[in-house]
Amino acid sequence: MSRDLLLTLSSEPRARRLIQRLGLPIPLPQRLDREDTPYAEQPLRDRRVLALGTLRGELGRAIARALVEAGASPVVASDTDVFDAPGEAWGRRAESLDAHLSDPGSTSRFEALVFDASELAGPADLRALYDGFHALVGRLAPCAHVVVIGRPPEEASTPAVAAARQGLEGFVRSLAKELGRRGTTANLVLCETGAESRLDGVLRFALSERSAFVTAQPLVVRRLAKAPPASTWNRPLDGKVALVTGAARGIGAATAACLAREGAKVLLLDRPDDDAPLAQSARAVGGVPVLLDVTAPDATERLLAVAREHGGLDVVVHNAGITRDKTLAKMDAAQWDLAVEVNLGAVVRLTDALIEHKALKKHARIVLLSSVSGLAGNVGQTNYAAAKSGLVGYLRHLAPQVAERGVTVNAIAPGFIETRLTDAMPVAIREAARRLSALGQGGQPR
Ligand code: NAI
Repeated sequence: MSRDLLLTLSSEPRARRLIQRLGLPIPLPQRLDREDTPYAEQPLRDRRVLALGTLRGELGRAIARALVEAGASPVVASDTDVFDAPGEAWGRRAESLDAHLSDPGSTSRFEALVFDASELAGPADLRALYDGFHALVGRLAPCAHVVVIGRPPEEASTPAVAAARQGLEGFVRSLAKELGRRGTTANLVLCETGAESRLDGVLRFALSERSAFVTAQPLVVRRLAKAPPASTWNRPLDGKVALVTGAARGIGAATAACLAREGAKVLLLDRPDDDAPLAQSARAVGGVPVLLDVTAPDATERLLAVAREHGGLDVVVHNAGITRDKTLAKMDAAQWDLAVEVNLGAVVRLTDALIEHKALKKHARIVLLSSVSGLAGNVGQTNYAAAKSGLVGYLRHLAPQVAERGVTVNAIAPGFIETRLTDAMPVAIREAARRLSALGQGGQPR
């Protein structure tokens, strides 16, 4: 993959100092702390996590339990009692922020910050964000993780409440841009009423290195799908079968590796022409290669046969994708057709067939790879963007239909990720696209 020169320079202390001394108008990106090991029982073990905001009621207790069970050492500013949880195995008294700040020996910074903004009654309450963050953002360690927790605006009792709730999104997206220079992420988690017990997985993800390149995102925790049976944090995919399309390289190969690390048997699918790299990716993760073009006329029957052979699928990641970039006037019909067919048509056809023929297990997870440029629109990508935003329409309609079986359908819309796909961009556009990210760099497939 092409090298990010600025990132390489920024990791070299002498070069970094020199560039800063010269006062060049280029913000040097921070090399991100990333996680390559499987999920652990306590990913936040002994990390000092600042817990601010309302912190009461069922949501407050869910936040406290999630942090403590993940091993965090909470520090609180208010007189909240949610961490005490008498009689609960996870209860752990939180350290007080005042005591922490007045301790002359305590120079340590916070590795994570959680802000409970779930009880906003109107625009004036947004002031709590200023009050909470203003003095403390400077105390975050590089590559720290911030999560603001709110309730969905759609559930608000009045328009004023909805306004305040929606305001959280603008706040978090802007904060992410301010903090990104230091490698720190900021995300918004909107928790539906009744979904509090499902917060822990999202918090473990958003507060750890696992989400190193996920920032400025609103993530919604819903109660829509029937909950799966309790699972363990260690090897949660043990005994499960996962299919990843486009797995010969890039994001697909990294996804296959990640699922295999969590215990899944992984079926790695790619085009017959990509036989050699697919075999290599499959060998690397102990997975099974499946040579199949998702647009082939017999793709549906062949995929169903593969699914049956392995006793049904628990995870499907529709990652295979292509670009055929041209401005609309210069694009030929074949370029339009291929981009729409690979990125959307095949996904809809194959998923519909898997559902219709009961090839998906209960509580299966379907993940679709959309794209930021697909959602925001991009010059030269009318075909790709039509397909990538089409995926979102598909999943919004599909998710409620399969929720009763506990099946979830989600899409991920990555920004710029360093792969063959982005290597193909003209140099100047590639360099600009890297710097557009709040973190000032491209993401890695992992
Ligand atoms: P890549 O080009 O490195 O890998 C894509 C894989 O899909 C290739 O191995 C290719 O052979 C396979 N594939 C393409 N057409 C296929 C077909 N008809 N049947 C079976 N396999 C097929 O691309 P990358 O970057 O890893 O992208 C993966 C997904 O992520 C794509 O859907 C892409 O649109 C999406 N994405 C990528 C971004 C990036 O910055 N790299 C940003 C946003 C979305």
